[in-house]
Amino acid sequence: MIGKVKAHTNIALVKYWGKKDSGLIIPYTDSLSLTLDEFYTTTAVEFSDDLEHDEFKIDGNPVNEKNFVKLTNFMSHIRDLSGVTQYASVSSKNHVPISAGLASSASAFAALAAAGAKAAGLDLTRQELSRVARRGSGSATRSIFGGLVEWHRGYDDVSSFAEPIQEKLDFGLEMIAILLDTNIKKVSSRSGMQSVVATSPYYASWIDVVQNDMGLMKEAIKNKDINRIGKIAELNAMRMHALNMSAEPSFTYFNSETLKTIELIHDLRNQGINCYYTLDAGPNVKVIYDRKNRDRILKALQIEFKRDQLVVAHPGPGIEYIDC
Ligand code: DP6
Repeated sequence: MIGKVKAHTNIALVKYWGKKDSGLIIPYTDSLSLTLDEFYTTTAVEFSDDLEHDEFKIDGNPVNEKNFVKLTNFMSHIRDLSGVTQYASVSSKNHVPISAGLASSASAFAALAAAGAKAAGLDLTRQELSRVARRGSGSATRSIFGGLVEWHRGYDDVSSFAEPIQEKLDFGLEMIAILLDTNIKKVSSRSGMQSVVATSPYYASWIDVVQNDMGLMKEAIKNKDINRIGKIAELNAMRMHALNMSAEPSFTYFNSETLKTIELIHDLRNQGINCYYTLDAGPNVKVIYDRKNRDRILKALQIEFKRDQLVVAHPGPGIEYIDC
């Protein structure tokens, strides 16, 4: 049986940044994200007697040794769950700039978890699939679901899973991704967060910050208060990036364009255009706003950026099975 699935990426409004258990990927904190429509991965999986090892192709190219080990271990978890003993042929197509802080690993492992489980004949709930996806990449836990999604940190494999808060949004939350640099990032999120947990003297405060932000963010969502959502998300992101600067050795994902873009968003706000920003493990900035302000924001951004650097991203769906 072939399993084929499309999964979308997500951007965290309250960030996950640190693992308590790096094998199972159990995070120190809860997190909350918006799944986006524009960036996604489509993955097909088929187990076969003819293979002597797993085979992975991403955008038509075989994967490197490091990714092979990660991916084949992930497939072995699906084999353990299902009792399937064959190796798999996996083919994936990304519609996300890889490793540029647009969370390609989120859509990649969400699609692989769901396609792999289907190909192995497993009948898992979406909550169970979120736990499988989690073992590939933390942010993938949330990409099983659409819209606004919460990942409960939990304390073991069973209790650490994602759950939708609102799968189909009934208010105008939207994002614009400003693509400043789509090259591979220098510090992966995996090693960045590991270094922060090990060396930042502020990590304990971060755990408290996130707990507080989760409550505030859920309340703002309930009230459909986009300005409040943006404010909380912006401060949460900046506090995460402050952790990176406080690590030893200190590091940052920002470049000079990032800082200029942040300033530009502050300027827009000073002009009375409500918009906020968030940043992940890369220099690209995502603007958070109410869709009713989209045209004004786009017009202002187009003075500074080329049109193809600006991607308007709408709330997107959870995993979708594709018939083969
Ligand atoms: C900044 O999920 O890419 O985007 O679990 O090591 O694969 P691994 O990390 P990953 O980290 C995402 C970090 C983030 C914040 C977030 O998505 O919550």
